[in-house]
Amino acid sequence: MTGPSLRGLWNRKAGSLASFPRYSDALKSSNIVWNDKTLDEWIKDPQHLVPGNEMTFPGLRDNQQRKDLLAFLEQATQAGHAPPQMGGMMGGGGDVDLKTVGQEQRVRAVTYCHDTFRVTTADGHTRTFWERNLRLKVDGSKDGPERGTPALMGAGMMGDRADVIFATPDEISGFIKSEC
Ligand code: HEM
Repeated sequence: MTGPSLRGLWNRKAGSLASFPRYSDALKSSNIVWNDKTLDEWIKDPQHLVPGNEMTFPGLRDNQQRKDLLAFLEQATQAGHAPPQMGGMMGGGGDVDLKTVGQEQRVRAVTYCHDTFRVTTADGHTRTFWERNLRLKVDGSKDGPERGTPALMGAGMMGDRADVIFATPDEISGFIKSEC
């Protein structure tokens, strides 16, 4: 996702997960091994410990807060420990298999006219979105949608925004017909 998985973090070499393709050179070449001491320094001020790393987190300066966070992380990151689920109003944290969503989320067609997208789903309904409120995304993971059947996922709290998530980038423009 945005950052690397923290599962099995203690005693792992920094920047070493094959599953995360976006590590900075700075972190990969840092030669840090994660433990109580190095993690405390990282969370206190990431840019101080590894100048030029790409984690957009300013750091936690409060000693007690870091102590509490590390106590939590040490438990939560043990292999086999289920990560906390994103949920509720956040609009899904990537833990839904998009191949199994209901008809009302299986996208059959998307048209584009002036400033408006019309999204028709397998249950026969068509919803309209202002162009800036519909995000076109890709999920190529095992939980992504099938090719040709993108998924419509609500976003935000007002019901006026959504994501259409495709299996690959190359199907996006062909799928959307300009039609009024
Ligand atoms: C207290 C909160 C956070 C903790 C405890 C934390 C922890 C970590 C750790 C331990 C690593 C190194 C993992 C490894 O070497 O495999 C890492 C890397 C990273 N994290 Fe965080 N993180 C936090 C917040 C954030 C936030 C808010 C973001 C972005 C929104 C973020 C994005 C990243 C990215 C992109 C990397 C890779 C950095 C690079 O390669 O330079 N993290 N994080």
